Amino acid sequence: PNRDRVREQSLTELMAQAARFYKEQLKRSPVAIDYLKGRGLTGEIAARYGLGYAPEGWQALQAAFPDYSAASLLECGLVLENEQGRRYDRFRDRIMFPIQDQRGNVIGFGGRVLGKGEPKYLNSPETPIFEKGRELYGLVQARQAIRDHECVLVVEGYMDVVGLAQFGVGNAVATLGTAATPHHIQKLLRLTDRVVFCFDGDAAGRRAAGRALEVSLEHLADNKTLTFLFLPEEHDPDSFVRAEGPDAFRAAMNRAQPLAEFLLAELKKDVDLATAEGCARLVHEAKPLVTRIGAPLLRLQVIKMLAETAGFTQAEIEQSFGLKNASAM
Ligand code: UTP
Ligand code: MN
Ligand code: MN
Ligand code: MN
Ligand code: MN
Repeated sequence: PNRDRVREQSLTELMAQAARFYKEQLKRSPVAIDYLKGRGLTGEIAARYGLGYAPEGWQALQAAFPDYSAASLLECGLVLENEQGRRYDRFRDRIMFPIQDQRGNVIGFGGRVLGKGEPKYLNSPETPIFEKGRELYGLVQARQAIRDHECVLVVEGYMDVVGLAQFGVGNAVATLGTAATPHHIQKLLRLTDRVVFCFDGDAAGRRAAGRALEVSLEHLADNKTLTFLFLPEEHDPDSFVRAEGPDAFRAAMNRAQPLAEFLLAELKKDVDLATAEGCARLVHEAKPLVTRIGAPLLRLQVIKMLAETAGFTQAEIEQSFGLKNASAM
């Protein structure tokens, strides 16, 4: 365990140095600076998020780190090795977004191509210090604003976090291109009582919202409020705030759909409530989700809503969910 600690410390130190290197390179790249300016970012916000630039060429980073062993450069994911054993930089000619843990240590990077190109984003692999399903991008920078607003906003992308911050919406964090995990949800709910999910307005964003809903259910508490903000089809939070401004964005946030409503809407989507079969199916499909709701009072409310929607009594629903015995009927 002691050796692991030493290894983790040296990985953390290496990542910090890499972030400094990329930051330094950004200053020297007018093209990269223009890209960020073109996306509406000021130097102040770029500095706040520690944005950088990975230069072109296959060995730029390695050449700048002669004191580090090949093994540590490979382990931290900044360098890759091909089948012939030749090592090359993972990130080349990309805008670099350092990912920090909650203490502010750099633990990984996301790198965006300037303009078009595939893949649009490259991310650090998981390493001994970087576990994707646990980290939230932008948390260190958002922490104070989350306290001030008593609310955290969860978005999909690096640019959403940074773009919102540029417009003064500083309480956003992003899941790292992965679906929200139970770890994310628990972390978010420890931070504050109000969570607003705001994914992209496209089909992928809708799916991400559905998954966030599902993993949230068992972690809910009656003093927590989770809502879902659905943007117009063509927008993500960054493009929306840019097009409509921060006031419009905040107004949309305040109109976000409460979790219970979203849950019911999702369940109702593929049933025909004009038929007995549809009503039965709705309750059948609802059971595994509703019984997972960890907030007793909210669960009761959802059951009431379900009863009303499907034409049952509350007791009938509870019995069919196995929540109460039949004598209550
Ligand atoms: P998006 O495709 O919505 O990108 O992916 P974006 O954040 O809006 O980026 P811009 O505005 O085009 O620059 C959302 C998130 O999914 C992950 C990244 O974390 C990204 O921010 N992603 C996306 C990847 O990891 N790789 C990809 O190739 C694309
Ligand atoms: Mn998207
Ligand atoms: Mn975007
Ligand atoms: Mn997007
Ligand atoms: Mn079934």
